[in-house]
Amino acid sequence: MSYAIHRSLLQNPAKAVRGDGVYMVDAEGRRFLDGCGGAAVSCLGHSHPAVVAAIHEQVETLPYAHTSFFTTDVMEALAGKLVNNAPGMGKVLLLSGGSETIEAALKLSRQYFVEAGEPERHLYIARRQSYHGNTLGALSVGGNEWRRKKFGPIMMPGHHIAPCIEYREMHDEETREEYGQRAANELEAKILELGPSNVAAFIAETVVGATAGGVPPAPGYFKRIREICDRYGVHLILDEVMCGTGRTGTMMAYEQESIEPDMVTMAKGLAAGYQPIGALLCRDEITDVIRQASGFFQHGHTFMGHATAVAASLATLNAIEGERLLDNVQSRGSSMRARLRESLGDHPNVGDVRGRGLFIGVEFVADKESKAPLDPAEKTHNKVQKAAMEQGLMIYGMGGTIDGRSGDHVLIAPPYIINEEQEAELTDKLTAAIHTVCGA
Ligand SMILES: Cc1ncc(COP(=O)(O)O)c(C=O)c1O
Repeated sequence: MSYAIHRSLLQNPAKAVRGDGVYMVDAEGRRFLDGCGGAAVSCLGHSHPAVVAAIHEQVETLPYAHTSFFTTDVMEALAGKLVNNAPGMGKVLLLSGGSETIEAALKLSRQYFVEAGEPERHLYIARRQSYHGNTLGALSVGGNEWRRKKFGPIMMPGHHIAPCIEYREMHDEETREEYGQRAANELEAKILELGPSNVAAFIAETVVGATAGGVPPAPGYFKRIREICDRYGVHLILDEVMCGTGRTGTMMAYEQESIEPDMVTMAKGLAAGYQPIGALLCRDEITDVIRQASGFFQHGHTFMGHATAVAASLATLNAIEGERLLDNVQSRGSSMRARLRESLGDHPNVGDVRGRGLFIGVEFVADKESKAPLDPAEKTHNKVQKAAMEQGLMIYGMGGTIDGRSGDHVLIAPPYIINEEQEAELTDKLTAAIHTVCGA
């Protein structure tokens, strides 16, 4: 009997009792290789001594200070570090999770336009097959049909354009660059349809995570998006809650797109799961306008800038930098994708292995040639996730990959400290799980 509301009300999950590097251990002593960091969170594994020590030290000195009264050394240090790692960004708001960062971004964009003398800008455009969080504002802009469906009547209207997914949407006669331009041009058409002076912001995951399964943008896609946003004075908000903090091999995923957003959100790996935290970063110009008008961002939460969470995040970023873990993300990421293509490339139900850094998606199909999806009723993603758990491997399975209803994929996002032997264990166990479920 449990009093907790678990993800499923039909069955309680296994009980985790201990973390050990890239492994988690349950109450029965079973060890699981954490191949997805929960949901791309645990980037340093589960027992990093420097992060644990930083949390102890902070709790013993000052666990919490309400941000209406005080700033702290750790908050100032973390804000400086984040800004220095994020090209074009000048200021940071520290929050407690991904959805909170999106709510704050939507409100910051809106308040900016109200105070900059463009109060008619109130619409947000996002992409289908995206996820920006479960709070109502974030859910409204998000493009995950399954997550949105029940809550339609209580959400604000959302405006969506097509995602940028080469595997599914690129035409045979197009180059990758041409496809990127075509996909991005949908934004211009949508802005013109809604009336440019009504649109506040466009929001997109730089590399799409859970909903579509580790999808990097086509070359030049975000450059064209940036041009369109500039042309119509629309904010570009990049959601790097999942793909940021080094997950794709650079601290910010957008560094690989040669653009700078107006705002970017981070969470998940930001304190590696040792504490809950999120961050909204923005250009100086945004806070400059508000400073000269009302003088304050009309937003806030009790736990924002939480000293202990901030200390954990600072230690996480120091570990990523000090241990040169982004090098490992890049090299392990390419070798893991190569291994997966080697072991699964010929499997009749594996349509695509994709991703960037240690952010990898494997999409399943019924037919490789036509890319027809498997029967959604089979819930293949769930079965593969379960079969992997039985092998002692955690991976993140998801359905609705194509349109919120059909399509299946698994997302792989292991800790950045993963070594070669563990990489082999991950790919072997995933391959075995897929063979168990799909045969062949
Ligand atoms: C891209 C993206 N944005 C926002 C969120 C919401 O973050 P949280 O679950 O911490 O509220 C998520 C969570 O999965 C995410 O993947």
